[in-house]
Amino acid sequence: MRLSENALIVLKSRYLQKDSDGNIIETPEQLIERVAKAIAKADENYSATKEEIEKTTNEFMDVMSELKFLPNTPTLVNAGRPLGQLSACFVLPINDSMDSIFDAVKATALIHKSGGGTGFSFSRLRPKNDIVSSTMGVSSGPVSFMKVFDCATEAIKQGGVRRGANMGILRVDHPDILDFIHCKDKEGEFSNFNISVAITNKFLDALKNDEEYELINPRNKEVVGKLKASFVWDEIAKSAHKSGEPGIIFIDRINEKHPLSKEVGEIESTNPCGEQPLLPFESCNLGSINLGKFVKGKSIDWDNLKKTVFTAVHFLDNVIDVNIYPLKKIEENTKKNRKVGLGVMGFADMLIDLGIPYDSKEAIKLAEDVMCFIQKISKEASSELAKKRGNFPNYKYSIYSKENIPMRNATTTTIAPTGSISMIADASSGIEPIFALAYYKQVLDGKRLPYVYERLFNVLKDRGIYTEKLAERIIDNRGSLKGIEEIPEDIRKLFVTAMDITYKAHIDIQAAFQKYTDNAVSKTINMPNSATVVDVKEAYNYAYKNGLKGITVYRDGSRQEQVLVVAKKE
Ligand code: CDP
Repeated sequence: MRLSENALIVLKSRYLQKDSDGNIIETPEQLIERVAKAIAKADENYSATKEEIEKTTNEFMDVMSELKFLPNTPTLVNAGRPLGQLSACFVLPINDSMDSIFDAVKATALIHKSGGGTGFSFSRLRPKNDIVSSTMGVSSGPVSFMKVFDCATEAIKQGGVRRGANMGILRVDHPDILDFIHCKDKEGEFSNFNISVAITNKFLDALKNDEEYELINPRNKEVVGKLKASFVWDEIAKSAHKSGEPGIIFIDRINEKHPLSKEVGEIESTNPCGEQPLLPFESCNLGSINLGKFVKGKSIDWDNLKKTVFTAVHFLDNVIDVNIYPLKKIEENTKKNRKVGLGVMGFADMLIDLGIPYDSKEAIKLAEDVMCFIQKISKEASSELAKKRGNFPNYKYSIYSKENIPMRNATTTTIAPTGSISMIADASSGIEPIFALAYYKQVLDGKRLPYVYERLFNVLKDRGIYTEKLAERIIDNRGSLKGIEEIPEDIRKLFVTAMDITYKAHIDIQAAFQKYTDNAVSKTINMPNSATVVDVKEAYNYAYKNGLKGITVYRDGSRQEQVLVVAKKE
């Protein structure tokens, strides 16, 4: 395996097996073999022969060791090991009772320990100061109970696969919505949570007509107040402008696009990074194709991509079978729908290899072409599996049954952030642009060496203009080439960073991927420090108009560290 220095550091710190003294007892190749064997074993359930299983094991090993495809972190860490929990994404329900709240806290602890992330909607909890009939007391409300989850996460972060991450959702029509919107205004509060407001169609209508909308007590469904939609919209935008949170999700759109009918349940939350809406007690395992590995000359190697998608879907479907679930109920629900989330990383790498700037019409077109292809092939692959293994059990409630298309998985595609696995693959993360084209690398003897994004380094070398001084100038320019006149214009145009491009260019790419993704797309919409609250609202409108399921904006400098950035450092 050809691994970068950075990849080795990441693998050693969290992925490779250790003995009880903390010594590493596994090589990266052995890790790949352990994972491939454990996942291929599921084929035994479908009467595969020994030879067939060996062939599948080799296919799985090849795509992973060539860094063409990697499953999400829990699969890499836990497959073939006693913990055996392989999914990154969970959603747990929280009902309006102590029993339910603390059952969810316990399940959360078990999930975090194994490297999974949890999402919850707190919308079913009665508002603060509402009555508690059993004690004649008053309730403390959703935001207060979120603290319990935040503290539990904090307490179990030591010793787990990685620090846990949570998504907290509240519907915009919950009476405590204003408290929720501002609950992360102060840096450090709820540091184990990402938060998002679930925006309803009713709210959007009220916003359009500049009207009030109703606040509903979930305990008895009574209307307990009204707020001006434009006021709440402003509050969300102001808070996001100030601190990067909350994000918003378009909850009605998410349910409308869900391939399963309401009889199966209603989606009320996503996983921590927002890319995976799930039903209560459902989990999903993700995996990502490294697009940078599929450029041949100046075009895309579609045949190879097709083959890899087939292998990846086979792999992800097998994960559902060999997974050891933290709760019986999660196992049951997950196996009814068999959702998997195949996505991509290295999109920015691919663009650069093809000579296409991230903020261009061609980039939008490429995003659509690539994801349309992956979506289509992943459906073919799932359909093939269904012919051999049967449809997913809830098939009859799905859009596929109406068209009589066999399907093994209720969903096949999700665009994950790939925060850690992109480091292993040495790829640009998810569908994000390059964050910084150069940075200082800490080296031994306390000396810092500038490190330049490899593709840029090669071009600068080829043109004979690379010097260490130039690298330092790029670093001083916050990793951007903007305004560095000694670098030829064509290079400056191609190598753009997340901060160089407009929020619209970010949203355009997110929308292009969302168009061909069953689940959702993880993406940060970067804005310059000078962006205004009005800009944030415009971004929200643009996101809705372009079919996004949710959006998170991040204004440069508005927060020191975001939850998953912090998580990755630990
Ligand atoms: O790259 P990796 O497979 O580690 O994960 P990712 O693509 O960055 O994140 C995918 C999902 O894993 C997130 O949306 C969370 O559900 C979960 N996650 C987590 O629970 N804790 C983290 N520190 C990072 C990710």
